[in-house]
This record gives sequence, structure tokens and C-alpha cells, in this order.
Amino acid sequence: MTALKNDRFLRALLKQPVDVTPVWMMRQAGRYLPEYRASRAKAGDFMSLCMNPQFACEVTMQPLDRYPQLDAAILFSDILTIPDAMGQGLYFETGEGPRFKKVVSTLADIEALPIPDPQKDLGYVMDAVSTIRRELNGRVPLIGFSGSPWTLATYMVEGGSSKDFRKTKAMLYDNPQAMHLLLDKLAQSVTSYLNGQILAGAQAVQIFDTWGGNLSAAAYQEFSLAYMRKIVSGLIREHEGRKVPVILFTKNGGLWLESIADAGADALGLDWTCDIGNARERVGHKVALQGNMDPTVLYAKPEAIRAEVGRILASYGSGSGSGHVFNLGHGITPEVDPEHAGAFLRAVHELSAQYHA
Ligand code: CP3
Repeated sequence: MTALKNDRFLRALLKQPVDVTPVWMMRQAGRYLPEYRASRAKAGDFMSLCMNPQFACEVTMQPLDRYPQLDAAILFSDILTIPDAMGQGLYFETGEGPRFKKVVSTLADIEALPIPDPQKDLGYVMDAVSTIRRELNGRVPLIGFSGSPWTLATYMVEGGSSKDFRKTKAMLYDNPQAMHLLLDKLAQSVTSYLNGQILAGAQAVQIFDTWGGNLSAAAYQEFSLAYMRKIVSGLIREHEGRKVPVILFTKNGGLWLESIADAGADALGLDWTCDIGNARERVGHKVALQGNMDPTVLYAKPEAIRAEVGRILASYGSGSGSGHVFNLGHGITPEVDPEHAGAFLRAVHELSAQYHA
């Protein structure tokens, strides 16, 4: 394998010294880019992009080609590949988000769910990872990812996106044993899926717990964090002679950072509702922190974006091996002007050098 030309993302996740704060954006390959919309039209639809390794590689590279400041690539795929491989029948209704042909409602439904084999059932994802690694040729590290068991369970039980998670919450409280069986099967599936991605070439992995912050404090521990901890303890942590850092991102998990930092991961992703300087005081001795600009700041003018980047960097503060990876607090949205994303990325590198001196 080719040596990495830019490893500041991996170094920051391990709290090693860097020259400037590394940066990437959640959902950096996506609809805000005209070149992405053109590739999607050529492929036909979103899932055809994900299922064809050449297309997945093409759209993964688009933001890197446009923005030389990006310090990491992220596999182009979706968290819902696992439920699809469990036989749920994923499809996307235009403008409506993800849907499943089958929903999980009963204990019998859960007992019948298979645990997907990464090579046999999700081989297209493994092929996308190795294709992207080859194309990157050491330019920047490649991030693999998965959804958390709880977040995946919400889509499987609701049959798609939800505002209130009515069915999932009812199952959790009415039939906790059934919910635990579902989450346990998902934790096993996620562990082997992420290990498959690591063996195929992913150099760091992130677990997206997008809906963990919707649980009560007690339920979060029992139904989300416990399963992420289990996954982390089963992951391959070193490959190709390098550490493979693990990032846990619970959206709206700011109240629980101490317990999340105890789950065994190298870094925590932060949404924009917490102050990153305060988060560093609370857990910065244990983990690196990734985040946390409000993605809607990108609707403002470049000068305002630059000021907000400066504010976040100052809040985090300085130190050799300070362990900060800059990111948005959630995915970039389709309406963002690509020029504004460029201003954001440039500001991170230009304004952060002073904090690493
Ligand atoms: O960050 C990246 O660039 C990698 C790509 C990525 C996608 N989905 C591509 C995508 C990642 C990391 C995801 C994760 C994902 N998918 C999450 C967790 C992160 C988050 O954003 O909270 C969730 C909850 C999903 C499920 C999902 N996939 C939803 C709810 C939707 C529809 C919402 C929307 O933006 O339309 C998707 C579709 C999806 N996944 C798109 C992309 C680029 C848009 C599809 C399109 O082109 O129309």
C-alpha cells in the first residue's frame, strides 16, 4: 500500500501533533455539488450510485478534487445498507427519504432477521472501499462508517424516517427484550461490517448515532451506548501497521459526553449545541473531538463563516496534540453554495496554524 501523503486527520484523532487543524465535512459528497447531481442522473438514482463501486468512487472523489483543503475522504454509501442486507427492501421515494418494503414489528420478525455477511451480502460496499483506496493513492485517509444499532433500529421499526419514533419507543418500553434482541443482532452486523471495511482499506471508522440523542438519559445508556461500546470492543484497531481510530457521533449527546468518552473510542463527534471548549475540558484528556460548526452557518456570507470558524478554534484552544478535527455538527445541506463550503475549509487551515505552534 502507498504511504499516506497527508495523515493529519489520523494524527489528530490520536492526539498527535499536527501543523494545522484537519477538516472534512459530513455528507461532503452530495446534492450541493453540481457534479454529484450529474453523476446521480447518469447512475439513475442514489442507490445505484452506492451499489456500483465505480460510481461510488467517482462521487467520493468529487469534493476532494474541488477542495484541496479536505484532509479525509469518506466512503460514499449509506447507513441503511445493513437493514437492506437483512432483507428489509430499502428504496428511496423522491423527496421523501428512505423507505423499507418490510417493517420489523414483532419478536418473530426480529428472530427471523439474518446477520449479513460483509463479503457475500455487502460485497458492493467492500468493493467500493478498495476501489476508492486505490484511486486515492495515499492522498488522504479514507473513513468507513456505519449507523449505530439504535439509529438503524428506528428506520427498521418505523419503516423509514420519523419525527417522533412512535413505534420504536413503544417497542422499547412495551417489549424491551425484543428491542434488545434487535439491537444485539444489529451490533453483531455492524461489527463485522466495519471490520470488513477496515480489511478492505478504511483507515478510520465513524459510527453515526443520529437518533441516540432522542432517548432519555437512562434509555440512551441501555439501548444505544451499550451497543456502541460492544461494537467498539469488537473492532480491528490496527491494520497495515497503523492504528485505526474509531469516532462515535451521537447527535444531541452533549449531556452525556463523559459516558460516551468511556466507551473505548478514540474520538467523539459533536453537534453544534455544545461548546467545544467546554467539551474539551470535560473529556479532552480521554478522547479527540470532531466538530462542531452549525451546518446552517454555510448559508451566511464567507466573512461570517470565517468568523464562526475563528470562534470555534479559539474556544477549543491550543496545544501540541490537542486532538481537534474540524467538521460540521451534522451533514452539509443540499442548498449550500459550494463557494461557501470552500470558504469554510480554507478558513479552518488558515486560522488554525497559530493553535499548533
Ligand atoms: O458523508 C458522506 O459524504 C458519506 C455519505 C453518507 C450518506 N449517508 C449519503 C447520502 C453518509 C455518511 C450517510 C449516513 C446516513 N444516512 C445517516 C447518518 C448521518 C446523518 O446524516 O444523520 C442517516 C440517518 C442516513 C439515512 C438517510 N440516507 C436519509 C435520512 C436520507 C435522505 C435524506 C436526504 O438527505 O435526502 C439518505 C439519503 C442520502 N444518503 C443522500 C446521500 C448523499 C441523499 C440521496 C440523494 O442523492 O438524493
